[in-house]
Amino acid sequence: MAGRDRATMLFTTKYGARPTGLVRAPGRVNLIGEHTDYNGGYVLPMAIERAVWIAFRPRSDRQVILRSEAFVDDARIDLDQLTRGEGWAEYAKGVAWAMEKAGNRLRGWEGVIASDIAMAAGLSSSAALGIAIEVVFAKISDLGWDPASFAQLQQLSENEWVGVRSGIMDPLIVTGAHKGHAMLIDCLTFKGIHILIPPEASIVVMDTGTRRNLIEAGYNRRRSQCETAAARLGVTTLRDVTMTQLDDHKADLEEPLYDCAMHVVSENERTLAAADALRRGSLGEFGSLMNESHASLRDSFGVSSRPLDAMVEVAQTTPGCFGARLTGGGYAGAAVALVALESAERFIHVVEDGFHEATGLQGHCYVVESARGASFEPI
Ligand code: GLA
Repeated sequence: MAGRDRATMLFTTKYGARPTGLVRAPGRVNLIGEHTDYNGGYVLPMAIERAVWIAFRPRSDRQVILRSEAFVDDARIDLDQLTRGEGWAEYAKGVAWAMEKAGNRLRGWEGVIASDIAMAAGLSSSAALGIAIEVVFAKISDLGWDPASFAQLQQLSENEWVGVRSGIMDPLIVTGAHKGHAMLIDCLTFKGIHILIPPEASIVVMDTGTRRNLIEAGYNRRRSQCETAAARLGVTTLRDVTMTQLDDHKADLEEPLYDCAMHVVSENERTLAAADALRRGSLGEFGSLMNESHASLRDSFGVSSRPLDAMVEVAQTTPGCFGARLTGGGYAGAAVALVALESAERFIHVVEDGFHEATGLQGHCYVVESARGASFEPI
């Protein structure tokens, strides 16, 4: 059963009445531009049809009662007493905290959450959850919906409340995506350009089945290293550094700072080139840039893993594949491939088998369709 029906059904069973509202927030797959967002750089993600769904109804007080199909207990949040705790409810509390901090007076509600996005796999399950909760609050509390400022509030909640110093890519694509398009985002200005995905291309998510916790994996540490490298180079963000400047100052950057900066500077160049290739429908060129991106994330930035490398390697050598790379924060989770439409079905079987042979692990590959950003849906 699809997420929307599960959320509605579970709500009806729990409360004995139909929900009064339904919200959807999509996951995303990043095609290229990894670990560039928090360096003020460029990213090229696409929202996917797999989404977080929340069925809800308002309350007359300032209590929020949430049930997730993935967890046994309800989360109870008192908007007048937001205190830090542990577990998935922190995403909801963080969002409420950020929205009230921005001057909004929130109202209470009760809802049921169902998600079709694999968790902690690099497909932005957490930003989708946070944004879905924001949309509900906005609706219940009669607030206007402005995608870019709500994206910033979601980022703030994850940075300050949850403790992951994630960038702006995920909330911006989850709120602002157009169906059928990827979005080139300038993470300094938050401006996006929507680029049509050519109809002869399939985007395949290749989930290794391995999972990570971004904080424990070293995401925040990598971000700090990028900031140190920028400070040494006398700039605010690595976005302002060219390859020539980086080489001229190699001696000022001990390891791993030089390699980190090298990845970010080269990834920004690749992302702009890839956006240009996509606009021209040059899938071969786009795929080569994806392959280069993976090599840089593996060798310079150090955020790949053996299963991710194996998955990408099998994909890159399978007929019909233009290119493949890890997607999202890395360390575990999913990779993405650009594949010729007519080869996609066969590609999936060959890659799942090849990955199992190489690692003994059971991966899961599937085609994803591009979706529009978060929305309030008719019941
Ligand atoms: C995670 C973060 C994003 C981004 C990617 C890496 O998904 O949430 O902000 O930094 O990692 O590109």
